[in-house]
Amino acid sequence: MKALVLAAGKGTRLKPLTNTIPKHLLPVADKPILFHVLDYIAEAGIKDIGIVVSPDSGPYIEEAIGTGSQWGGGVTFIVQPQPLGLAHAVKAAQGFLGESPFLMLLGDNLIQEGVKDFLAEFRASSSDARILLREVPDPRAFGVAELDSSGKVVHLVEKPRTPKSNLAIVGVYLFTPEIHKAIARITPSWRGELEITDAIQELLETGKEIRSHLLRGWWLDIASNDGLIEANHVVLDALLKPNVEGEVDAQSRIVGRVQIEEGTKVENSLLQGPLLIAANCVIRNSSIRPFTNIRAGTVVEDSSLERSVILEDCRISRINHLADSVIGRNTKLAGQGRTPEKIKLFIGDDCQVELE
Ligand code: DAU
Repeated sequence: MKALVLAAGKGTRLKPLTNTIPKHLLPVADKPILFHVLDYIAEAGIKDIGIVVSPDSGPYIEEAIGTGSQWGGGVTFIVQPQPLGLAHAVKAAQGFLGESPFLMLLGDNLIQEGVKDFLAEFRASSSDARILLREVPDPRAFGVAELDSSGKVVHLVEKPRTPKSNLAIVGVYLFTPEIHKAIARITPSWRGELEITDAIQELLETGKEIRSHLLRGWWLDIASNDGLIEANHVVLDALLKPNVEGEVDAQSRIVGRVQIEEGTKVENSLLQGPLLIAANCVIRNSSIRPFTNIRAGTVVEDSSLERSVILEDCRISRINHLADSVIGRNTKLAGQGRTPEKIKLFIGDDCQVELE
């Protein structure tokens, strides 16, 4: 069994951050999205991992992952020259996959339950594909599956205008090598992509059995700015363990689950969890409210932050109420302490913002 992670694609809806940081390396709970996905694979015991990258993002992703020893095995990087669809990415990885069955994960999908049980069910069955489904209120932005009364998949459509069910296809799939033959037979969709959904439908049409697993826990498809903030909220809430390694002075107060890493100093501030402050930060005369992640090397003074992600080496001073925001690396935000209204920002690396 091999694993294939798809991490090419443009990340257009997360600009300007994705101008300088590949989408799959943006942090969720202080860890790149892609690392969470690799954790699922390691937990399921798969050691042979291929990661599909784009020519632009490839070098950054390779640098971040290194040899992949953190996930217990070898990582192979596969460059997809253009993002021409999920099935096109599988085609690009055919040399790596060979005749092996494989687990495929989209590098921007996080799921609560990981993939261990999903994989065990596939191993115990004789189906040619297994897909993960989740009930959603409006499935039009996803692939949508129809099941028969026995739970067998009978039809799949990519982003239908009038969905026949509320079962969205989550970006986690299991395939036998039969999928390669199906991919060879499909043509690009209306959006010009070779859709994996069409390839699975093609398997169905040639009489193959497709099974599904219904996901009950959370599923995060991180496609937009608000999606990134929501993902940080959900994952901090689910996983954060209280642990204070930095220095917190007697004038400060900690409420709830708070993680403060080594080298960080907190002075005269209120910290209200769940929140995570990484190493070597300074928090002074400030109030840091729930679902916030401040990454390493950042200084916050005379400010109040809430449900925000602050990347490395920022300086934030005299900002009264920054909320639902993402701030890129090495950015300076300075206010006059006079803006009681909530400020919501989504800005990239190396910016300078002064509020009068
Ligand atoms: O998130 C679940 C949905 O993902 C499914 O419900 C859909 O059936 C499936 O087609 C897919 O739809 P999206 O439109 O959301 O896919 P997106 O273009 O956002 O790409 C998903 C991931 O795959 C993303 O991490 C980038 C990567 N990718 C994408 C393309 C188009 C590649 O590696 N290569 C590609 O060519």
